[in-house]
Amino acid sequence: MFASPAETLAGLQSSGYFTDIKVATAVFLAGSVHRPILLEGPAGAGKTELAQSVARASAVPLLRLQCYQGIDEEKAIGQYDRSLQELYVLLMSRSIQTPDWAQIKREITSRAYFMAGPLLDAIEQEEPCVLLIDEIDKVDYAFEAMLLELLSVWTLSIPRMGTVRATSIPLVFLTSNQERRLGDPLRRRCFYLVVEHPNAEREAAIVARRTPHVDPATHRFIAGLARSLRAYTLEKPPSISEMNDVAMAMELLDLDRILPAHKEIMLPLIAKTEGDRKRLLMKEVFESIVRMAAKYAEQITQDSPDEDVRVLAGSEIGQ
Ligand SMILES: Nc1ncnc2c1ncn2[C@@H]1O[C@H](COP(=O)(O)OP(=O)(O)OP(=O)(O)O)[C@@H](O)[C@H]1O
Ligand SMILES: [Mg+2]
Repeated sequence: MFASPAETLAGLQSSGYFTDIKVATAVFLAGSVHRPILLEGPAGAGKTELAQSVARASAVPLLRLQCYQGIDEEKAIGQYDRSLQELYVLLMSRSIQTPDWAQIKREITSRAYFMAGPLLDAIEQEEPCVLLIDEIDKVDYAFEAMLLELLSVWTLSIPRMGTVRATSIPLVFLTSNQERRLGDPLRRRCFYLVVEHPNAEREAAIVARRTPHVDPATHRFIAGLARSLRAYTLEKPPSISEMNDVAMAMELLDLDRILPAHKEIMLPLIAKTEGDRKRLLMKEVFESIVRMAAKYAEQITQDSPDEDVRVLAGSEIGQ
């Protein structure tokens, strides 16, 4: 999909995903040697968005399997089209005096009578696509075990039809919020990335992309606010998506700074549990968070490339 780690990083950035050379290298290698990537990390840190951005950057289709408790193979792989099967049996039994039932059975369990789910669809694409298996930690062990065949030998076993081999091997992303620990057999088949909250420079760039008409100093303030909030003990520290909301709110309300007086307006956007809301409602807490945000914002240098860009520029890895 990409020719080098540097091209991967640049492609992701131009499709709106800001990350570092380590993540870009893992994506490049996974695409080159056909390994799935398991992404773990806090909610809103950019796991799903990474898969979507890889598809956008390489201009390939994104197929998505949204996992949930109780999901079964039919939802993931697909199922026979029962009404079409019945219709065929009816037609055969009416039009032929002595139907060949073995032949009819073979016919109605062939690929033509099977409606593909996202997994089958992904391996039947003419060109490799991106397959996102989102929130894999919600599935049970049986479903996880079913995925092992796909992710190691790139085949799927379909009842009565047999084994379907991949026409093209997708670049697979599995995401998890670690609600359940995934098994080691699945882990060993994947490259593993922890998607963390970004550093302040990158967070300012991400927020700037969403609100391009807002002053860069405000973007730096928002990145400082994110750092300040995450340094404070919260049950649910804000992620990039909350900071994007703050940026949009500041734009709509025409604010270039958040002052202690804006506490009540900002709390629904940044405090997401009752406990966090109570904590941030305390006057001195919110005041000190806003003060620290301004201090952190001053430390963000506008023009200096962050560490990962320097690594890329000075090493052969990016060439
Ligand atoms: N590195 C990034 N570059 C640009 N935007 C980002 C980045 N990371 C996250 N975002 C933004 O944050 C939003 C939330 O990201 P995403 O949905 O990928 O989080 P997630 O890790 O999948 O969360 P969850 O575990 O709740 O599903 C995205 O819609 C995107 O706008
Ligand atoms: Mg997600």
